[in-house]
Amino acid sequence: MADNQSDKPVQIQEDQQKKLQKQLSRIRHTVMVMSGKGGVGKSTVTANLAVSLAREGYRVGVLDGDIHGPDIPKVLGVENMRLMGDEEGNILPVEAIGGIKVVSVGYLLDSPDTPVIWRGPMKHTVMRQFLKDVNWGDLDFLVVDLPPGTGDEPLSIAQLTKGVEGVETPCAVIVTTPQDVALLDSRKSVEFARALELKPLGIIENMSGFACPHCGESIDLFKTGGGRKASEDLGVPFLGAVPIDPAIVRDTDEGRPFVTSSGDTEAGKAFGKIVSKILEQIVSR
Ligand SMILES: Nc1ncnc2c1ncn2[C@@H]1O[C@H](COP(=O)(O)OP(=O)(O)OP(=O)(O)O)[C@@H](O)[C@H]1O
Ligand SMILES: [Mg+2]
Repeated sequence: MADNQSDKPVQIQEDQQKKLQKQLSRIRHTVMVMSGKGGVGKSTVTANLAVSLAREGYRVGVLDGDIHGPDIPKVLGVENMRLMGDEEGNILPVEAIGGIKVVSVGYLLDSPDTPVIWRGPMKHTVMRQFLKDVNWGDLDFLVVDLPPGTGDEPLSIAQLTKGVEGVETPCAVIVTTPQDVALLDSRKSVEFARALELKPLGIIENMSGFACPHCGESIDLFKTGGGRKASEDLGVPFLGAVPIDPAIVRDTDEGRPFVTSSGDTEAGKAFGKIVSKILEQIVSR
């Protein structure tokens, strides 16, 4: 009797692990969007990549892995929502444009101003729950928005999603801006991806040049070309450069991924090419 009792927690753990593996086996590709520095455009890339993939007919989910700065609900225009449960006790994601399934810590907070004060183990538990207890259904892509750096959140997602039978190796897209300090840190993200056996899909150079709205001349506010150079040095693909475009700020602030409203701009076209390069690598595997 005593033995049976002590076996119970082990059994529960095994059941939970099986559930996690089962859920993950229904997600064909996990794409983690990372950067070394903050504010370089990860959430913008995540949202626009997700929308672009959904427009190609893929089934897409977005996991907002930025626990302290959950921006995805705003960027995808699905703020002020609550997560509901299904009849089996799983969490139902919020549905955004193109049927994209979205889960974020932002949906668990009383107000957008509430800070999340959690240590590493708590963050890991939440990441695990977002993978195990969310009714994602069958997904072609789960795009994961992450905070800057190589801390708890990317580590948890990388560890939890790797080695699942029948699904592709989780991938990483690294976003950088062209100046040296950002590039230096983005190299760490590439090495992190390698160390955790993620497939580095490549580097995006965001905020790369700015076309003056008055004369049309290109101004290199943060320099240009560093992302390509870093990708050559590190032996990972260069996915492309997206210029600074005030329309991106406006669209993002209004919860409208810019590929839907500014797809024909230079930035929109550049982003389209980036998505094609990502798909080429994934589909041709
Ligand atoms: N190419 C661009 N041109 C103009 N503005 C941009 C561009 N890319 C992103 N932005 C703007 O820069 C700001 C930061 O972008 P975003 O929130 O995506 O960065 P982030 O890397 O996710 O930041 P954090 O590290 O805080 O999570 C946003 O206001 C966004 O609209
Ligand atoms: Mg962000």
